[in-house]
Amino acid sequence: MPAGGFSVSAPSGVEFEAKITPIVIISCIMAATGGLMFGYDIGISGGVTSMDDFLGKFFPAVLRKKQEDKESNYCKYDNQGLQLFTSSLYLAGLTATFFASYTTRRLGRRLTMLVAGVFFIVGVIFNGAAQNLAMLIVGRILLGCGVGFANQAVPLFLSEIAPTRIRGGLNILFQLNVTIGILFANLVNYGTSKIHPWGWRLSLSLAGIPAVLLTLGALFVMDTPNSLIERGRLDEGKAVLKKIRGIDNVEPEFNEIVEASRVAQEVKHPFRNLLQRRNRPQLVIAVLLQIFQQFTGINAIMFYAPVLFNTLGFKSDASLYSAVITGAVNVLSTLVSVYSVDRVGRRMLLLEAGVQMFLSQVAVAVVLGIKVTDHSDNLGHGWAILVVVMVCTFVASFAWSWGPLGWLIPSETFPLETRSAGQSVTVCVNLIFTFVIAQAFLSMLCHLKYAIFVFFSAWVLVMSLFVLFFLPETKNVPIEEMTERVWKQHWFWKRYMDDDNHHVVNGKITANNGASV
Ligand code: BGC
Repeated sequence: MPAGGFSVSAPSGVEFEAKITPIVIISCIMAATGGLMFGYDIGISGGVTSMDDFLGKFFPAVLRKKQEDKESNYCKYDNQGLQLFTSSLYLAGLTATFFASYTTRRLGRRLTMLVAGVFFIVGVIFNGAAQNLAMLIVGRILLGCGVGFANQAVPLFLSEIAPTRIRGGLNILFQLNVTIGILFANLVNYGTSKIHPWGWRLSLSLAGIPAVLLTLGALFVMDTPNSLIERGRLDEGKAVLKKIRGIDNVEPEFNEIVEASRVAQEVKHPFRNLLQRRNRPQLVIAVLLQIFQQFTGINAIMFYAPVLFNTLGFKSDASLYSAVITGAVNVLSTLVSVYSVDRVGRRMLLLEAGVQMFLSQVAVAVVLGIKVTDHSDNLGHGWAILVVVMVCTFVASFAWSWGPLGWLIPSETFPLETRSAGQSVTVCVNLIFTFVIAQAFLSMLCHLKYAIFVFFSAWVLVMSLFVLFFLPETKNVPIEEMTERVWKQHWFWKRYMDDDNHHVVNGKITANNGASV
């Protein structure tokens, strides 16, 4: 029996009837292409900023410094302008997501994805045709707006449309696309770095492919029943529910969404509502998950893998090659998560990965600490391979844990009334910390040297302890029943749930004493 005297009308584990229909799978695959664009943007900048043609055109000072090669190994790319190129996208995205919160609520998940697609297309045009730094940055900003809108709408779309028992796996299609986008970008950079002097232009222009895919996807999919019902389109919502679940009797799930949406209608200021005590657990967890995800240090690797491998003494070709390897490991390991997240659960993946990430980071720090001095030319073949293997071990564990779950968990834990606002905060905090790492990493590498990996490993320890004690399991819980089945049962978070009088479970509204109302 649940703790705290609350009654639930369905024993845990019972779920609504639903078939896994082709339409659900196809819709999810289409929507998830929003992740492709995010990944491509993450992956492309590292390679482009190590191309001499690009540096010569936009950052001649960096090129000069690189060619003089008198700088310390750890410091040769330390330039704020260059970092701003990478970071401007994240700054734009974190602002845009608040507008996207409004559109996901009022216009729906689908139209918000469409807006994202249009931003992406215009951004790509600016970037590919850039004649000066201003055009380059404007393009990055437009891409950032696209990221803000897409990362807001896509995870919500996936979590809402998916049948409960495979919700995790379907949501992770977003992250799978992120990783494919990164890998695609790495491969493109590998090829275009040999095309002079306009290879970088091709790299930036090929982002048009994921941009168009998302736009087309958004034109074809239907909106989620939750979003339709939230906007008062009840009949349409029910029809969509029947179609995607592949059954006629959708009444219990429909009623539950209607009730969740009734509660949502009463909320006039979603962001203010988010700050209420009973929304504290979801909010704290969403915010911390994003901070933790970024402080695993993943983007230090993702953005700067080519730069990092260069620093390790690989020549520039080999460094892109290594980035391709980490990219492939990232994609394949995400598949592990798609498969296992609804079987072993979220917590298990995060805890296992914590151990693996910690050990691999410490190993990298030790090798670099002993072997790479400021002006040594080469790490030595064997050691370099060891570093690449350890980096891959780290990336693999991130890819089946913090990568996908950082997006999945916030998108499935907020109640409908704060889901859009909660997702905005999620995206915003994610991008703030992505920005912080992007902006600070090269300077940190220059000052902390190998100890940068010790820094990140300490964070991994902290986040794993947090998961152990404070993160509840959300596997197999219907999305509109999280309050009852998760938060009100948790040893710590249940104390925040005491001011909630009514709730819905399996389509029935019940009072806190368990009576149906
Ligand atoms: C993170 C990104 C990261 C990517 C790597 C995503 O979940 O949000 O910041 O670059 O995973 O695969």
